[in-house]
Formats: sequence, C-alpha cells, structure tokens
Amino acid sequence: MFRTVKETARAVAPVAKRAASSNVSQSTSSSSSSNIALAAAGVAAVTALTSMNENKKAMCAVEPVDMAILKELAEIKKVLANLDPTSKILGQIEAGLAANPDMIMSKHFDLSYYNSLSDGLKARLLACCKSGAENHDSGVGVYAMQPSDYDDLKPYFDKVIRDYHKIPNEVKHVTNWDLATVADRLPAGGKLDLTKLGLGVTSMRVRVGRNLASYPLPGAMTKEDRLNMESDMVKVFKELIEDPAYGGNYYSLTPGSPYEVSEKFYQYLVKSHIMFKDMAADTYLASAGIASSWPFGRGCYVSADKGFIVWVGEEDHLRIMCMKKATVLNDVFDRLKSACDTMERICGNFAHSKSYGYVTSCPTNLGTGMRASVHIKIPKLTAGGSDAKAKAVARPLGLSIRGMGGEHTPIGADGTVDISPSARLQIQEAEIICALYEGIKNLMEEEKKA
Ligand code: ARG
Repeated sequence: MFRTVKETARAVAPVAKRAASSNVSQSTSSSSSSNIALAAAGVAAVTALTSMNENKKAMCAVEPVDMAILKELAEIKKVLANLDPTSKILGQIEAGLAANPDMIMSKHFDLSYYNSLSDGLKARLLACCKSGAENHDSGVGVYAMQPSDYDDLKPYFDKVIRDYHKIPNEVKHVTNWDLATVADRLPAGGKLDLTKLGLGVTSMRVRVGRNLASYPLPGAMTKEDRLNMESDMVKVFKELIEDPAYGGNYYSLTPGSPYEVSEKFYQYLVKSHIMFKDMAADTYLASAGIASSWPFGRGCYVSADKGFIVWVGEEDHLRIMCMKKATVLNDVFDRLKSACDTMERICGNFAHSKSYGYVTSCPTNLGTGMRASVHIKIPKLTAGGSDAKAKAVARPLGLSIRGMGGEHTPIGADGTVDISPSARLQIQEAEIICALYEGIKNLMEEEKKA
C-alpha cells in the first residue's frame, strides 16, 4: 500500500507537519484534504514503525531509519490523531498490515482507491474496516455495515471476498437447494444416510445467516433499529408458534420485553447451545459495532421440538438453524429450506446481492450463508488433545474443524469434533450437503488409517 516505511516517512514528514500545524479537521478545501491524506500516510508510517520497533526480530529486517524523522512523526501523529479520527483509523490499518500481513482487510486496503472515493463512501469503507483496524489478530477483519456495501464498495470488497473464498475470477453465485440437481452425487434413493457410513445416531445441524433487506446490517444498527427489528420478528414467530409444525416460544433478552427471560434462564439456554453468548465479550464484534446496545433487540425463537431455532440480533439479523440427533442428513436440510421459505414469506425479502448471493455481515458467510455440520468422534486424529492433525487432514478434503462449543472452542476430550464443508460462496446449498456427506466418509477413512 505504501512505499517502504522509510521512504514514506521522509516523503510525508513536511506535509504531515504542515497539516498538523494548520488545524486540518476544520478545513474543507481540497488541498487540505490531500494534506490530510498525506498526513494520514505519515501517521500510518509511524504506527507501522512503532509496531516493528516493538518486535526486535522484525526490526532486524527493516532498513535503518532516520531516528529524527521517526521522532518528529511520532509527535505529529499524536497531534493528528486528536484532530482527525480518520487519520487514526488509517494509521491503525497500516499498523495492522505490519503486525499481521495476512489479515485480509489490511492486505487489500488500497489508499489510492480510498482517496478516489466520495467523503460518504470513505466513511463507509472505514466503518467496515474498523474491526480489523482495532484487532490485529483478525484473520479477516472486515464486516459490512449496510447490505449495499458489497456492491457500492465492490472494488475493495471483491478483492476481500475472492481472497477469502479463493475464487480466482469473477464471482458467480447461484442459489439452489434442489437435491434432485445433484442426484449423481447422492446414494441411490437420494437419502444421505449416515448409517451407510458406519455411524449411528449423530448430532447434525444446518444453519444459514440471513439479514432483512429493510434494516442496516447489525454493525450500523441503532438501538431503535434493533428494537424495531425484534418487534418485526416477533410477528413472524407468533405465526410460527400458531403453526403445529413449529409451535414453541420466543425468548427475548430485551429489558422490559413481554418475552424477556431471566438471566438464569438465559444462561441455561447458552449452556444448552440454544442461545448465543454475550457478544460484548467478542472483541471483533464489539469493534465492528455488531455487539452494541447489548442485550437490546436480542433473542431467540425455539420450536416445540427444539429442532428449529432462530437467533435474533447476533452477527447477522437472523441465524436460522435446524438441528437433530438422527441418521439422515436430508431431515435437517429439507426442514431448514421450508422454514426459510415460510419466514421470508412473512417477514419480507432477505438481503441479497446479485454477485454474492445472500448478504451477511462477515464476507466469510456470503453466498449461501450456510454451515452444515455434524459431530463425529475421531480420537486417533485428535490424539493428545490437539486438533492440528485433524485440521491438516480435513483441509484438503474441504472441511473445517471446530470444537463442540462453536468457533474458536477446543475439541472434546473424547475426540469429538464439529466438522463442516468450508465453502459458502459459489457453491450451491444442495452441493454443501453432498460435500458434508462425502467429507464425513473421507474423514472416517483417514481416521481408520491414522
Ligand atoms: N472478524 C473475525 C476475524 O477476522 C472473525 C471472522 C470469521 N468469523 C465470523 N464469525 N464471522 O478473525
């Protein structure tokens, strides 16, 4: 993004100094805004140098730096960060690149693209990048704030999306749940029966992330938006509760809601893996604004048989899921499809992008928004309590491995893991469920060999 840090520091020092001494945040002339951009580059350079300085090993690889310039820029940076929050976040993005060169957000952040945008789009882009700017250990580091961000900021997001999803050319996503179209990959009769793979009753779950087209995405929602969206969803849940195929209850975390549950009951729901955890504890979500106004507008619907659950107000407006302890994968897949159709008919269209399919807050979930998983025991591949071997075997099979408590949780002591096909975008829903079945088969064979 920048030239070498040393060159950048030299180039921007005089301009940065001028910008800092003439109160830049007050000025609107275009030459001042280019001063801000240059000053921001200076800030970024200083931040990058500072973080390299902290890392002695990295320091050895860096050319010797003119310490006088470094000191001067550090002073300027302090002044500018107070004057202009934009400089601060640009500096954080650049520092993120130095600290973690693999982070997708900062890797693709191009200052000349940023500078070519209108003020409105600049602010929108920075809001999307805030999580990675503040959390340098992010793998991705970017969340959309509006359903239209993916299309309005396409030159940036397309690079992010294609990098994460490993799509070399233009993304062409097709939505298709029809298992008849993948009949050649299904066993005769079309049933994905796990007993045929030597498994017994297995815990299986399929979820999709969905967002209502009529609200900003969770990172940009006001408290009022969150409350209104929850009220809209309560109308949907009332219809489901009336329907004998669903029944059940809605549990709200919103203080004062007629559906509000006690803290104790909420904790019970979390322990039972029915409800999501306190999002404020997730620093990525907190930085993105997704966890804001917690716990207002948050809740979850649970069907009478507990096999169909809808989270309201987590990373996406809705996480819609079907789970069952059973042997045939089609059961959860078919039920989810019909439940999504029923919900969309009542609550209005889900946000959808022509290029990227269903819109989700995180670019990792775009496309199908689907994660289809089962819990299986692979004690040999997880021997010694480490999931490293299992992950190494699973990756080329197109599978992701998680602990039983969800993302970033440890594997079970008995070697039970949660496996799911990794692909979400430019893959069809029907293909994901086939990939899960084939993945289980392949992973079980690897377990036998291990
Ligand atoms: N923002 C986090 C990161 O970049 C999480 C990304 C994927 N997980 C998710 N729940 N969207 O590391």
